[in-house]
Amino acid sequence: MKLYDELAEWWPLFSAPADYEEEAAFFARVLTDASTPAPRTVLELGSGGGNNAFHLKSKFEMTLVDLSPQMLAVSRALNPECEHREGDMRTLNLGRAFDAVFVHDAIMYMTSVADLDAAIRTAYQHCRAGGVALFVPDCVKENFVAKTRHGGHDGDGRSLRYLEWTFDPDPADTTYRTDFAIVLRDRRGDTRIVHDSHIEGLFPRAEWMRLLREAGFEPRTLTDHWGREIFVAKSPG
Ligand SMILES: C[S@@+](CC[C@H](N)C(=O)[O-])C[C@H]1O[C@@H](n2cnc3c(N)ncnc32)[C@H](O)[C@@H]1O
Repeated sequence: MKLYDELAEWWPLFSAPADYEEEAAFFARVLTDASTPAPRTVLELGSGGGNNAFHLKSKFEMTLVDLSPQMLAVSRALNPECEHREGDMRTLNLGRAFDAVFVHDAIMYMTSVADLDAAIRTAYQHCRAGGVALFVPDCVKENFVAKTRHGGHDGDGRSLRYLEWTFDPDPADTTYRTDFAIVLRDRRGDTRIVHDSHIEGLFPRAEWMRLLREAGFEPRTLTDHWGREIFVAKSPG
């Protein structure tokens, strides 16, 4: 995906830390309410440019893991006080457990049941007994809606705007497709357009619950303020 590779340095103009303030406050409340005592250490899988972590780090000691070294570099610049590790959420083994594990939109890149299962098991393995894992998929099968939206920001003399267009070419499989048309304006005012196509995972709620239970979690779902169905999974104490 170009967005997390050759375009990673543009990430703060694609998705700015300020956009995440309200969401991150909500995630912090969910994590805090779900376990006693409240979590101190949090592992984030697929932490990307570190926009959630930027807000969460004042409440928790964050360890940030991402597949992309370029995205980790963006996050390190924003969150120099956090531990950063390169790794794949399907195979990661840090050899230690955290009070909580958080997986935001990066979970959408699990496109098969085997991948989703592996990521859930990684979360379980890194979650202490009595701890909690929070999974925040953009959608589950039941509430997927094909949509178009746009966004982007100005900054450091450069600007970015994008159009995001989702659709599900084959409702019988476990994926859908998101196409991005990204317009980049450099400091001279010249623009170029990049097309990036992402395949994302789409699973029924019952499949999520089954995988979470089979991994060892005690899961429940919650509908958040943004209409997403999210999964709060306790590791038995
Ligand atoms: C939309 S970005 C995450 C942004 C993040 N929510 C934030 O707060 O900045 C998605 C990230 O998922 C990462 N990713 C995709 N597949 C992954 C995998 N298997 N393991 C770890 N990270 C992965 C990508 O490298 C990318 O940085």
